[in-house]
Amino acid sequence: MNMCGIVGYVGSKGAKTVVFEGLKTLEYRGYDSAGIAVNNSKITVVKDVGFVEKLEPHLSQLPASGNAIGHTRWATHGVPNQVNAHPHTDMKVNVVAVHNGIIENFMLLKQNLKDGGVEFKSDTDTEVIPQLLSIELNEAEPFTAFKKVIEKLEGSYAILVMIKGDHRIFFARNHSPLVIGKGEDGRGENLIASDVVAFLKHTKQAIFVKDGDVGYIDGKNIHIEVDNQKVGREITEIEWSAKDAMKDGYPHFMLKEIYEQPDAVKNTLLDARIDEFAHKLDDGLEIVAAGTSYHAGLAFQYASNMKCRLIISSEFSALYRGGSVLAISQSGETADTLQAVRAAEKRGEKIYSIVNVNGSTLTRISDQVVHTHAGPEIGVAATKTFTTQLAVLYAVDAALKGNPKPTFDLAPAIALDGDMKALAKELTKTSELFYIGRGPSAATAREGALKLKELAYLHAEAYEGGELKHGPLALIEDGVPIIAICPNDTHKKKMMGNIEEVKARGAKVFVFGEQGDKELEHLSDKFYGLPKIKEEYSPMTYVIPLQLLAYHTAVLLGKNPDKPRNLAKSVTVE
Ligand code: M6R
Repeated sequence: MNMCGIVGYVGSKGAKTVVFEGLKTLEYRGYDSAGIAVNNSKITVVKDVGFVEKLEPHLSQLPASGNAIGHTRWATHGVPNQVNAHPHTDMKVNVVAVHNGIIENFMLLKQNLKDGGVEFKSDTDTEVIPQLLSIELNEAEPFTAFKKVIEKLEGSYAILVMIKGDHRIFFARNHSPLVIGKGEDGRGENLIASDVVAFLKHTKQAIFVKDGDVGYIDGKNIHIEVDNQKVGREITEIEWSAKDAMKDGYPHFMLKEIYEQPDAVKNTLLDARIDEFAHKLDDGLEIVAAGTSYHAGLAFQYASNMKCRLIISSEFSALYRGGSVLAISQSGETADTLQAVRAAEKRGEKIYSIVNVNGSTLTRISDQVVHTHAGPEIGVAATKTFTTQLAVLYAVDAALKGNPKPTFDLAPAIALDGDMKALAKELTKTSELFYIGRGPSAATAREGALKLKELAYLHAEAYEGGELKHGPLALIEDGVPIIAICPNDTHKKKMMGNIEEVKARGAKVFVFGEQGDKELEHLSDKFYGLPKIKEEYSPMTYVIPLQLLAYHTAVLLGKNPDKPRNLAKSVTVE
């Protein structure tokens, strides 16, 4: 369950509500099931299958005061049902735990516990934690017992634990994100969660927990140890506001995030460190990224003169030939990307990264980082983080070529919203379609198709226009929709040829091109115009109507675009 969200709260604001609200902001991490436990004179647990909202009717069963921990789950070990939902307790309900990660040696630990007479309720790896702790508590005081349990665990984890009669929340981290929110002085509160967005409403002072840290929080103290020695950790002031993590009147986070792109890109380009960053990158660079971030890398390859190679993170070990690495990642927690970076780091190579989430693992293992200033992206689909990644990459390219930093006007692309809603209606009648583009627009096509697949669950394939004739053309028949990305660039003439090819086989062609392009308009079943843009930068504006198209198609098909099935925002499993 490496993509789950966890929250803990110690304080007097009403722990169950603080944790419930925090879990709602973390739902992008997983949404199979959720649960909350409150610890006052005894431990009380509520859980349910489905979205975090499903917990609301159960909250009245929890005491009004006490400490609380909560969890929203993305199932790995054990199907998503109520029993497997977190929090998990020991047999006597003296210990309760939530966990994000995978305990790799849980089978052995579970068998040993069972042999000793311990009965398990769930199929999860997590349940071994409270069960083990319950036994250790017979021998040692709570924190020592907790540390003994952590020593027995192999795998990845961010763990929160409460013990009956103890006023602390214990925590440990190894390869799963965890961050402490330092409560405002005098309020007697502290928070801890998988992501800062869970506590922004209460504090902006964050302490990023590191791998190997164990500790506890209570109303007054934040105690962290490494190898049984108390350590201090710096406090980071988070720039994001609580409002950034709210829908702010929009029906979905995704739509809000699409509309935030003009500001997000502008803010990102204001970062004065991009120039210095660009000049550190040397030829022979291996660029590594996954999903949408990979598409940003692809767009950069079309723009740049650098001798660099782009590798999908999960293929890195098979393809890496050495040299410094540029990792691109929204979350900075994607396991595939982190394992690639760690492999390069082990060889002593330099690591550069472009990351949205401040304090994430990738930022800590990189030699140099540039942040995309997109603010929190809550929708599972990457939108504003894609265009801000492009902004950094295009600014890097400009710096290396000695050109001025580019600027972008994204408003006309967003103004196509109404047209995309109308086009979405057409797409709801189909089950498969194709996105085509050449040059930089091949990257745009891939990103457009990915958005439609993940949100509307329609089978959308992307091809370079010239590739169709090498196979996929066989799939084109009467009425198959084609989304053709065809800016007025050096590839336009050939793209027009590709459009003719699919039209001749009966395809219905929706073309995105430069405003006022009459010949393209004539060729299209429907034409959508965008302002003139430099050839290498076209993905920046052309992707936006495709994001809107995927959004509206999903909504019309009754899917929740913020929480597509089977997916999670940070993919922390390999
Ligand atoms: O956080 P990252 O950028 O490393 O995530 C990589 C992919 O999982 C991510 O881009 C994914 O493809 C998008 N959420 C799709 O919209």
